[in-house]
Amino acid sequence: MTQPSNNHKGVIFSGMRPTGLLHLGNYMGALQNWVTLQEDYNCIYCAVDIHALTTVESSEDIKSIKPNIEDMVLDWLAAGVDPEKSIVFVQSHVPEVMSLHTLLSMVTPLGWLTRVPTFKDKVRQMHETEETVNYGLVGYPVLQTADIILYKADTVPVGQDQIPHIELSREIVRRFNNLFGETFPEPQAKLTEAPLILGLDGQNKMSKTLDNHLDLASTPEETSKRLLTAFTDPQRLRRDDPGRPEICNIYSLHKIFSGPEAVKTVYDECTAATRGCVDCKRHIADNLNDYLRELRERREDLKAKPGYVQEILHEGGKKARTIAIETLAEVYYKMGLS
Ligand code: TRP
Ligand code: SF4
Repeated sequence: MTQPSNNHKGVIFSGMRPTGLLHLGNYMGALQNWVTLQEDYNCIYCAVDIHALTTVESSEDIKSIKPNIEDMVLDWLAAGVDPEKSIVFVQSHVPEVMSLHTLLSMVTPLGWLTRVPTFKDKVRQMHETEETVNYGLVGYPVLQTADIILYKADTVPVGQDQIPHIELSREIVRRFNNLFGETFPEPQAKLTEAPLILGLDGQNKMSKTLDNHLDLASTPEETSKRLLTAFTDPQRLRRDDPGRPEICNIYSLHKIFSGPEAVKTVYDECTAATRGCVDCKRHIADNLNDYLRELRERREDLKAKPGYVQEILHEGGKKARTIAIETLAEVYYKMGLS
């Protein structure tokens, strides 16, 4: 078996759909954790472009996949995902995942898939019904399972919304192992303890679709400008109205990105109406821009190297494929195909 170099370490697999530039919510919720996990695990990080195809609606969507992968992976690398330590690759570069997906579909009852909450949500969002929806979307968690177990990963860092998918992966693995003999570890979800980052609307989770996000790769000027549009305490109509920091998202951001002393000052000045919201937003913008400065500099450096990201992804794909080919051979044998 091809083993990653430190075979006493656990194997992490995680993936992100290539949606392009990542935002602050993606960073605090997932990416930062990916970087830290590299110390204790053999990590495999994947841009899941085949999963992206489950929801394409136009040729524009198709055209954006490749540039989106590049933008996203640049963010990963700038944040500290280290291709010397971890395997960083594109899902479609390892076609074995599609073979494994087909084989796993033979042990996955349809009802397991249609009862997944994310499936029902997607069907509704796409204005489809369970009759008209793509077969590919139904099988989304089967493909996700194939992603994970192709590398015999035991640990999957994900957000709360992905828990039902990982639960399903465990059920598929149990069924496979029962029928064909012990082959795969049951993957464990590893919930990321991260502060929930609300968007500029102060209401919803930060998200690109809601356009309430702050991109990591923005310029400091863009970040400040967007922060000025953020909703604050709606009862604070005039500067001398005392504010309620506890319901204001700018205050939540201070709690994450400004030091404890500054947080206290913000609280006191806001409730005493001696601080205006515009100043308060400039203050958080400066601190956030400081926080992101290094990441942004690294990103510019990497972006300036021609072909760098493609080279990393090519090398990552080769490493991933070596493992994948071996696992698929074992599956062929166990399932009576070779
Ligand atoms: N479904 C995940 C998401 O939407 C992305 C994903 C695909 C993934 N394959 C994976 C996550 C494997 C973890 C492991 O966020
Ligand atoms: Fe929010 Fe700051 Fe305005 Fe208070 S002063 S409401 S914390 S933006």
